[in-house]
Amino acid sequence: MTIRVLILGGSSEASALVRLVAERGDIEATLSLAGRTAHPLAAPIPTRSGGFGGLEGLVDYLRHHRIEAVIDATHPFALQMSRHVEEACARLALPLVALTRAAWKPVAGDRWLEVGHAADAVAILGEVPSRVFLTVGRLSLPAFAAAPFHHYLIRAIDPPDGLEALPNHELILARPPFSIEGEERLMRDKAIEFLVSKNSGGEATYAKIAAARRLGLPVVMIRRPKQAGTTTLDDPAQALAWIERHGRAPSPRGV
Ligand SMILES: NC(=O)c1ccc[n+]([C@@H]2O[C@H](COP(=O)([O-])OP(=O)(O)OC[C@H]3O[C@@H](n4cnc5c(N)ncnc54)[C@H](OP(=O)(O)O)[C@@H]3O)[C@@H](O)[C@H]2O)c1
Repeated sequence: MTIRVLILGGSSEASALVRLVAERGDIEATLSLAGRTAHPLAAPIPTRSGGFGGLEGLVDYLRHHRIEAVIDATHPFALQMSRHVEEACARLALPLVALTRAAWKPVAGDRWLEVGHAADAVAILGEVPSRVFLTVGRLSLPAFAAAPFHHYLIRAIDPPDGLEALPNHELILARPPFSIEGEERLMRDKAIEFLVSKNSGGEATYAKIAAARRLGLPVVMIRRPKQAGTTTLDDPAQALAWIERHGRAPSPRGV
């Protein structure tokens, strides 16, 4: 018996789950990407790209494709998508689980300045022009236009729009993972005074945090938004087991 599953992607956990699912003949899975990355890594299962057209569009998609279970493996900061899928699955009584990585926690030697939003990160950088390494993703960059006097070293996968609002910047295009040694060298060579990061969790981008610790640099850490009420797993193998359970005995909703 096969089960039709939708995997909302955009995270390394989603990619890991997709690799596990691709080896199975009894799971008919589709990966959904937002379509923000120009050249996403090829996935070994059928993939759709682009928004669903809001909550109603998502409900229509789930109905039309007769999806039987959903895994929300979006990035921990993709709040709107998580809210939509929680509401859509509740409406259709579909089983839903979230797959996400644990948040990073500060350890001895870290100098974290934790803030709630990108706007708070801008404020905490202060009024004195500083050299700032911005690794917040292009969606959060507009907030930093409020402090155009800092020098920003910006790293992104694709060239972000609107960089003219940050006249004093240098752009690096690169895709994780990064090494601690490489991050340390970069921050030293560029005379970085602050690192700004989201608390994304996971290993692929943790090297910058470890490198900042080695260099004694302050890290402005943007906390995660509040999690939706969905049950959360942090291991792709557990998510596969969850799919298997629903394939054997589909339940109305929940884990
Ligand atoms: N936010 C981050 O820091 C971050 C970092 C790395 C990767 N990502 C990934 O980038 C994507 C966009 O992030 P975001 O913060 O813009 O999300 P978001 O604010 O939660 O979502 C905005 C809209 O983008 C569409 N969308 C998001 N994820 C989608 C998916 N997996 N499949 C189809 N449509 C999707 C939906 O459009 P409709 O309303 O039209 O359905 C959603 O309402 C996500 O897939 C996320 O996993 C985000």
